[in-house]
Amino acid sequence: MSQEKPLVLVTHTLPAAWLAPLKEKCRLMIGPEGGKGLTPRLEENLPEAEALFTLLVDPITEDILERAPNLKVVSQMAVGVDNLDVEACTRRGIPVGHTPGILTAATADLTWGLLLAVARHIPQSQADARAGRWTTWNPTGWLGADLEGATLGIVGMGKIGSAVARRASGFGMELIFTNRSPRPDIEKDLNAQQVPLEDLLEQSDFVSLHVPLTEETHHLIDANALQKMKSTAILVNAARGQVVETQALLQGLQESWIAAAGLDVTHPEPLPSEHPLYAQSNCLITPHIGSASYNTRRRMAEIACQNVLAGLEGSKLPHSVN
Ligand code: DGY
Repeated sequence: MSQEKPLVLVTHTLPAAWLAPLKEKCRLMIGPEGGKGLTPRLEENLPEAEALFTLLVDPITEDILERAPNLKVVSQMAVGVDNLDVEACTRRGIPVGHTPGILTAATADLTWGLLLAVARHIPQSQADARAGRWTTWNPTGWLGADLEGATLGIVGMGKIGSAVARRASGFGMELIFTNRSPRPDIEKDLNAQQVPLEDLLEQSDFVSLHVPLTEETHHLIDANALQKMKSTAILVNAARGQVVETQALLQGLQESWIAAAGLDVTHPEPLPSEHPLYAQSNCLITPHIGSASYNTRRRMAEIACQNVLAGLEGSKLPHSVN
């Protein structure tokens, strides 16, 4: 048996301190910054790799697993794992690690950032002020939507959905939500009402998406769903881009089926700079920054390292999806 330390392929360059927990026990081969997926050099080393440290932009397919016969663990530095073929990992007995919980608050905060920015035209009003269009205190300029008394509809009452819901009480909003399973605890604790999706779409002034991307949630918000929403409604997506049908959303924003959207995630991702959604003044797009706070990203890396080490030792991962 080789006495060498196990080889861990880290798909992207990360701050050295974030990977420090792995340094002593593993050999690290690290991919470049930016990009998507494994570089040819990392791919060449798949046969020897015992662990993969991945980001959500890396497609980990059956074919990649096939070429990594010594793989003991796949550890993703994200909570969502829709880029990984989890089923294929499970079939091979490979545990898949992820980083739940730690990014809940940061993502909920960003959701509120988008919601407020869109509701009160913050990006447009800043652009206008910079461009010299702030000529007076304008009684009818930049009028937006009130939050107090408005209905917030949360689609998916998991950890992040609940954190978004908790923050709503400070704004004096009415809360409704959907969830796969009944959540009487949330109904009671947050004074919220669980309703079918159709009712949520029809009744909400703000619709915020917090479901994972699965076969059931793929294009959950399509033309039909958008047309059910109020024409004054604002859609916020900080979950996964493919939960919304991009072309339908574009049409909905152009034809005022809904008032506006705030998107931290898109499909495709990144959204090319020439995409017509950017030309919509009623659409605010941020580049998937929900978890982008210093502490959150550092903690995500820490958990991903713990998952790698546990997988290499053959112990139960602290956080796994399979
Ligand atoms: C995740 O962890 O899945 C998030 O989308 C990253 O911000």
